[in-house]
Order: sequence, then structure tokens, then C-alpha cells
Amino acid sequence: MRKQIAAANWKMNLTIDKAESLLDGIVSAGISLSGNHLAVFAVPFPYLQMAQQKISATNYFIAAQNCYSKKSGAYTGETSVEMLQSLHIKYVVLGHSERREYFQESNSFLAEKVNIALEYNITPIFCCGESLSIREAGTQNDFVAKQLQESLFHLSATDIQKIVIAYEPIWAIGTGKTATSEQAQEMHASLRNVLAEKYGKEVAGNISILYGGSVKASNAKEIFSQPDVDGGLVGGASLIVDEFVTIIKSLK
Ligand code: 13P
Repeated sequence: MRKQIAAANWKMNLTIDKAESLLDGIVSAGISLSGNHLAVFAVPFPYLQMAQQKISATNYFIAAQNCYSKKSGAYTGETSVEMLQSLHIKYVVLGHSERREYFQESNSFLAEKVNIALEYNITPIFCCGESLSIREAGTQNDFVAKQLQESLFHLSATDIQKIVIAYEPIWAIGTGKTATSEQAQEMHASLRNVLAEKYGKEVAGNISILYGGSVKASNAKEIFSQPDVDGGLVGGASLIVDEFVTIIKSLK
């Protein structure tokens, strides 16, 4: 049974005090997760260790929001997967649309990051998604399939099953404009089909595909209930205790 994941992406938000009280609030809600239900918190680098100490319950994990493609060396300002591994971090968000747009991260560069993360046993939460103009042109399925093909399809069948995919239509990020649950399901089914064509149905069926883009407490349950939607990657609503607690409880 593939994992159902409520993933928080804090992005570049919160001071340390606010970050601590957000995590305290979530911990004190005492939601116990078991089996294939997971909660993941992608926090800014300076808070990784604090978050790791606060979030210790079963099936709760801390993620980094990025990493560099090299093991170590003279790369001022970058963070290696070796550093993340030394902090026992198990997940890293890669290829978020904000990194693609503001830091020119390409599909081939992301393939390198995926490789090094897997080498260090850190699970990439690999983001993909189309802009509004691509959606309006109706070419979104091919566009997103290409993101997967160019960054992930060099992986073996064993390794591709270690990846978590997050489909985040750019036009739905931070806009309050969610994809409808039908639009999310349609894209997720299309991606699973692309994965199945390359790796077979069984492998494709094991890969979690999260939806991201204006997920909140009030719409999470409906979006997550779609058969190919395996939870969400949540920005704004993950910064509010009650919102994110409800989102975790909305996993199917
Ligand atoms: P919002 O939930 O704020 O739309 O952000 C989505 C996102 O980018 C998560 O990675």
C-alpha cells in the first residue's frame, strides 16, 4: 500500500520562536500516525535540528527544502545531503517551482540532486507542475510528463519507488485557486500512467503522488479522497496549527 503523506512546506517563513510554537502546537494535537500515514515538515535549514528534536513521534519526519548536487567542497552557501544525513533527515524537497523559477533549476540539474539524495538514503519529494499559460494551451500533461522523464526516468525500478512525487500546478500555488479535485485526479492518473508505461503498473502503483497548491483544511479531504492523490504538499496552510492538524487528519 503506497504512503499517504501530509507534507508541510514552510518555505522562507517563520522566526525560530514562531517555528517552535508551530511545532509545539502540532505535537500537542497528539495525532498518532501509523501504517502508511505520514506527516513531513519541510523546514528552513536553520531549524532542521530543532524540528528533528521536537518531532519524534512515529511516522513524523523532517525534510529539507533543498540540497546541492555535490557531496562537499567549495560551494559557499550550499547544503549537502551528507550534512542532512548527519542530522538524520530522511526527506528533501527537490524541484519546487519556486526554485525552478527563481534559481533556474533545470530538469537535468534536478536529476543530479535526485541521484545524490538517493545515494545518501534521503527520499526526494520531487515537485513538478505547469504554469497557467501551459494549462491554458492544454499541453500540461506532456509538460509535466517531460519533467519526470528528464529528472527521474534514468532511475532503476527499485529507485523510482523511493521517490515521492508532488504535482503542484504553479497557477494554484499561493493563489487560493486550487485545482479542482477532478483536475488533480486527472493529472495524477496521467502521471501514474506515464510511470506505468516506463516501469510497469505495479511499480507505478507503489509511488506516492501528492497534490500541492492552495490545499487547506476545508478542501484537503475532498482532494485527498481522489484515487490517485496520496496526500498533499502544503504551503500557507501548513503555517497554522489548526489548519495543518486538520490536513493531517484528512489523509485517506
Ligand atoms: P500553497 O499551499 O501556499 O499554495 O503552496 C503550495 C506549495 O507550493 C507547497 O510546496
